[in-house]
Amino acid sequence: MCGIVGYAGHRQAVPILLRALKDLEYRGYDSAGIAVLDGDSLSITKRQGKIANLESAINATASGTVGIGHTRWATHGRPSDQNAHPHVSCDERVVVIHNGIVENYAPLREALGARGHVFRSETDTETVAHLLEEEMRAGADLFEALRRTAQRIEGSQAVVAMSLDEPGVLAAARLGNAGGVVIGFGDGEMVVASDLAAVLPITQDVAFLSDGQVARVTPKGAEVRTVSGEPVPLQRKRVPIDPVTALKGQYPHFMLKEIHEQPEALADTIWSLATLEPPALYFDDLGPAADRLPDVDRVILIGMGTSLHAAMLGQRYIEAFARVPASVDNGSEFRYRDPVVDERTLVVSVSQSGETVDVLEAMAVARAAGAVQVTVCNTEGAQTTRVADGTVYTRAGLERGVASTKCFSSAVVALYLFALRLAQAKGRISQSELAAHLGELAQLPRAVADVIANRERYRRVAARLAQAQHALFLGRGLAHPVAMEGALKLKEISYIHAEGYAAGEMKHGPIALIEPAFPTVAIATQHALRAKMVSNIEQIQARGGPVIGVVSEGDEELTALCDEVITVPRVSSWLEPVVSVVPLQLVAYDVAVHRGCDVDQPRNLAKTVTVE
Ligand code: G6P
Repeated sequence: MCGIVGYAGHRQAVPILLRALKDLEYRGYDSAGIAVLDGDSLSITKRQGKIANLESAINATASGTVGIGHTRWATHGRPSDQNAHPHVSCDERVVVIHNGIVENYAPLREALGARGHVFRSETDTETVAHLLEEEMRAGADLFEALRRTAQRIEGSQAVVAMSLDEPGVLAAARLGNAGGVVIGFGDGEMVVASDLAAVLPITQDVAFLSDGQVARVTPKGAEVRTVSGEPVPLQRKRVPIDPVTALKGQYPHFMLKEIHEQPEALADTIWSLATLEPPALYFDDLGPAADRLPDVDRVILIGMGTSLHAAMLGQRYIEAFARVPASVDNGSEFRYRDPVVDERTLVVSVSQSGETVDVLEAMAVARAAGAVQVTVCNTEGAQTTRVADGTVYTRAGLERGVASTKCFSSAVVALYLFALRLAQAKGRISQSELAAHLGELAQLPRAVADVIANRERYRRVAARLAQAQHALFLGRGLAHPVAMEGALKLKEISYIHAEGYAAGEMKHGPIALIEPAFPTVAIATQHALRAKMVSNIEQIQARGGPVIGVVSEGDEELTALCDEVITVPRVSSWLEPVVSVVPLQLVAYDVAVHRGCDVDQPRNLAKTVTVE
């Protein structure tokens, strides 16, 4: 979950690395550091806290056209200057940045200590610097030293190293699923980073390292080998992401910008997968998965966090449209529960980043069992897309806010369309039914734009929620995952304790919490289940609990019943989750701003979680 970046080129490295670290800061912000090489001098600056602390500490004269930078999400060792990366070897000639965990760091540290190495930090990472030093003393160059070190460290990780003995060279390794390594090919300059966000300002010409690969990167290019030494031909591709989407523009926070981008993001996702005239679906990246869909007799959807909530909606769409039994699970639970999976099982992983380690490990389990796999992903070339048989890209553009918004709604519509695609493969949908679904979907971006345009109306709700210590979110049917997502948004950025529940469960525990200071957000847009929601709302109010209703436009009865309402446009009931979630995103945002919270970088969280 840390952000790592290395640069080797013809320009001064410090400003490039600082800028890249800002692009990576969403991955972790416990500390940050930079090392630059200039001939035979190595200068390292590192500081606890955000990049801003590093920026004010860094020596503006630190020059050098080769360097590495790191932004940390602490795993081993508390956040401090001392534990900040980069870490150096005893002779201070080798310097390392790292993402992931050296699982055997304890015995390695002990053995290295016994051989005279002196540790300066509490981190697992520092072992890598000392191991590289040993390998180089034994005659290896930096690339070879990292290849050999990769065989001595256990666990999932990514490493970038440089050495005073070889100025101009960066060595990078990807071991396991703890995080990606992207190599960017610029004009006489190269960049290597944990993700595309740091590479795109320099180049869109990239290659991704796979698990078990080590790269030697110089300003002229890159050479890659497997950990066991076989050369690997690099597959370069041009990524179609516009670097402009990485900028905040007029918005004070990325999250607000990304909420506002939803109409466009949804349209891009929908019309990259379907056309209305003629009504048709185009899943060009399904690869070998396409031929196996007719034989699928079971679907398991996996994801984490917000992507899990999108997967919950996908499960309902798949059962409804394709009539194939579908279940949903956290990647972290699925991988350890010895799931029943065979070659007729379709595993659909949902991951915005395509790098979440729990999802990747679950995919490995599914792969070993012979399942057919499709991943719903927003990141071109990410690891899930390389493990799965086929990909459904959610063309939402880069998402930078730690709290996912546009990638959630885009994943929901991608899953909706994929469910229709599976229904086609199973012969369960007619052309006229498909046309009707696509016609409804075509209205969705407009409806979401209307919700966003009504932002001022939700401010009263935000002001009310901002006073609460706790909040309950309830929904039935497709509104249940929306309740879960609404609660997650509120708790992750405003630190108000919030729980999302299936409304029917309310009577079995949460109702004990109801009192005047405990608001409930009731998502009551699912028309078929509306009467049941009305009962739940009355039960809460009978116990003195205030209710904020999310209701469809024109629903006078619910508007009169609830203490506050958020009205959303009427759309097909299948698509209501998308129009209901947007005001909940906006309310969570306004509550967090009201409470003075750091919206884009909430405490303890990271956007891409690459540790278990
Ligand atoms: C982190 C992020 C969430 C995200 C989850 C899964 O917890 O803070 O916003 O939903 O990871 O990420 P993924 O990239 O797999 O969708």
